[in-house]
Amino acid sequence: MYSLFRPALFALDAETAHHASLDALKTAHCLGALSMLVKYPADDPRTVMGLTFPNPVGLAAGLDKNGDCIDGLAALGFGFIEIGTVTPLPQPGNPRPRLFRLPEARAIINRMGFNNDGVDKLIENVKNSKYKGILGINIGKNATTSIEKAADDYLTCLRKVYANASYVTINISSPNTKNLRQLQGSDELDALLVQLKAEQQRLADMHGKYVPLTVKVAPDLDNKQIKQVAALLIKHRIDGVIATNTTLARDGVEHLSHGNEAGGLSGAPVREKSTAVIRQLAAELQGVLPIIGVGGILSGSDAAEKIHAGAALVQIYSGLIYRGPSLIGECCMALR
Ligand SMILES: Cc1cc2nc3c(=O)[nH]c(=O)nc-3n(C[C@H](O)[C@H](O)[C@H](O)COP(=O)(O)O)c2cc1C
Repeated sequence: MYSLFRPALFALDAETAHHASLDALKTAHCLGALSMLVKYPADDPRTVMGLTFPNPVGLAAGLDKNGDCIDGLAALGFGFIEIGTVTPLPQPGNPRPRLFRLPEARAIINRMGFNNDGVDKLIENVKNSKYKGILGINIGKNATTSIEKAADDYLTCLRKVYANASYVTINISSPNTKNLRQLQGSDELDALLVQLKAEQQRLADMHGKYVPLTVKVAPDLDNKQIKQVAALLIKHRIDGVIATNTTLARDGVEHLSHGNEAGGLSGAPVREKSTAVIRQLAAELQGVLPIIGVGGILSGSDAAEKIHAGAALVQIYSGLIYRGPSLIGECCMALR
């Protein structure tokens, strides 16, 4: 079915197509049409971070930044949905154009820059949704907040989303917010995690509910950095790690139209890099905390590769654009 719509969507500019797809999804869901179109993946429950996921294939952050399409996305059969990245205050993100398809490489370059309606609006949307499944909320910092004050933004978001999230992701790996990736440095990460962990404990006591914290990392970390990050995740008893975000590398796409646009590259070209990070994280972490594998999953066998490298769950974004919702079921089948 998606292959019928794809040429029309790809004829539109990428960001217009994004909004058109989400609007169509919302409408189809409201009309009850999705159940006729979608073949639901069979249940394949996995317990990770103390949560039971109905299947191991999730939606990666960034597609539904404001959480205003949760019910429609859930109806596609995802085992979990991650919304955001959300920031304390609404912000417009970078000027358009900021989203580019590279179809020859089955890739995307984006420099959206955390465009979002702010955390209060996201929470309102979550409360209005009917979804009862696993919901990750991915949090970040406003562009106008200095990197020295970044922790304040993460703490603000954590407090606001805590009661409504199944887990919360600390995004320190977007390449499109100036200096954000510096937070992956040893000293910066140590200082950030100590504050977030203390706040998580305080909120757990206050709400009588423990909400796991995950940290999302870049595929551009070198071996030494991965080792340091892993040690800090263990030290601060972080509940999970999401590997990976988009890459700054342009290997294999430089010659393509839009191949040199600034931003993060995702889709097929990031697959091997992400898997390599997962493999090293798995070796360093030795099962102390689980890995959610993301980056370049465009087929069921790509999903299986992430699991074999050490991931407990997977997420997809670019693959959904190139393959459509049938990719979810294909990945579930491959992982059963
Ligand atoms: C257009 C676009 C926007 C994204 N926005 C976010 C974001 O806001 N927060 C985040 O953590 N990751 C974001 N990502 C990264 C994805 O969640 C994912 O980690 C990355 O694209 C690799 O997976 P993929 O190859 O399946 O797309 C974005 C990716 C794309 C393509």
